[in-house]
Order: sequence, then structure tokens, then C-alpha cells
Amino acid sequence: MAGNGDAFYKRVFENNRKWIAAKKSLNKDYFSQLAEGQSPEILYIGCSDSRATAEELMGAGPGEVFVHRNIANVVGSADLNALSVIEYAIGALKVKRVVICGHYGCGGVKAAMEAKDLGLINPWLRQIRDVYRLHRAELDAITDEPQRYRRLVELNVEEQCINVIKTAVLQKSYLRNKTPTVHGWVFDMRTGELVDLNFDFLGKLEEIRQIYDLGPEV
Ligand code: CO
Repeated sequence: MAGNGDAFYKRVFENNRKWIAAKKSLNKDYFSQLAEGQSPEILYIGCSDSRATAEELMGAGPGEVFVHRNIANVVGSADLNALSVIEYAIGALKVKRVVICGHYGCGGVKAAMEAKDLGLINPWLRQIRDVYRLHRAELDAITDEPQRYRRLVELNVEEQCINVIKTAVLQKSYLRNKTPTVHGWVFDMRTGELVDLNFDFLGKLEEIRQIYDLGPEV
């Protein structure tokens, strides 16, 4: 929680020792097995927000989820970091599902809603402002600002799912193997609930390939 300052930092290594003991008490070979390799089924792309945890809110343990996080869970067209994670997760680890997980109350999305200069972060926020521009008619029709903010969080998730579909590695893999599928979620930190936005993966894949087809000859 906020405000702990140094107290939490000082506990980290003690927590780590307790965690090792707890894992070994259930399975003495836990760490040697963990070191053998990973085959996670999910690639999770979420926000860096300290409250929107990846593994904990899913009840996932080490080895189960490949994780990438950045401000407002964005998949940019020239983001070598996010694109490398996607390439490796799909191409090498053969994940079955790619999840974009946004969260209500996202500071990055909130900042993007304000049309002002925020310095170094401007180019990053521009990617979310682009989402606003794409969906301006729907968003501007929502007069309640908190509701408009929540809707932009959801639309940003959908647009980032679409950005995953635009990658060659996703298209080639899905057209050959029928995996991975792409899913959009929102985490509501006021209730702890994870909401599936039921992103229309197959419909969007077909629509996207009409303009951004990078798939194999089939
Ligand atoms: Co956020």
C-alpha cells in the first residue's frame, strides 16, 4: 500500500526467504523444476499501474503467464519492446491466448483525455488520443465524464487488441495453427473484478486482414 516508504523495501528479502520456504514445504523440487523452462499459455499485456497486478489477480503462479506491462497497456506500431514480447510469446513460446488487460481508473488514459502538453510522455499519450479520435462520435456523445473515461479505457483495450492482430506473427500463427486468440479484459480495482469485454477476435481478424494482411498464402 502507499506510504510505506522504506518499510516495504526492508521486508522484501525477508519476504523472499519466507516465499522460498513456503514453496519448498509443498514441493521440495519446486525451484529446480521451475528452472527447467517455461511454457506459459497466456501472454498478458497490461498497465504498469501497481494496483493492476498481472499474476495475482488471475491466481497465476510462476511459469503460467508471460507478462508485458507499460503505461495504459499500449501496443504501438514501432514499439520494439512490446513487439518483441509478442513475437517471442507467439513465435517461440506458442502461447494459446494473448490478453490485453486495461483497468478503470487508468492514469495514462485519464492524462490522454486532457488536451494539454505533458512533456516527454506526449508521444506515448498520443497513441491513446488516437483511440479517442477514432471513436470521437461515441465518446463525445457520453455526457457523464466518469462514464466517458471508463468507455475510453474499454475502447483502448479493443484498439490494442486490434494492434496485436495487425502483427505478422499473430496473423501467420493464427492462420496456420488457429492459435493464439486475442482477448480484451478490464480490471475494476474498486471491486477486484476482472471483466471480459468479449472482444470479437474472428470478426476483427477478418476486417483487419482486408487492409493489413500479412498472413501466409492460404
Ligand atoms: Co493504468
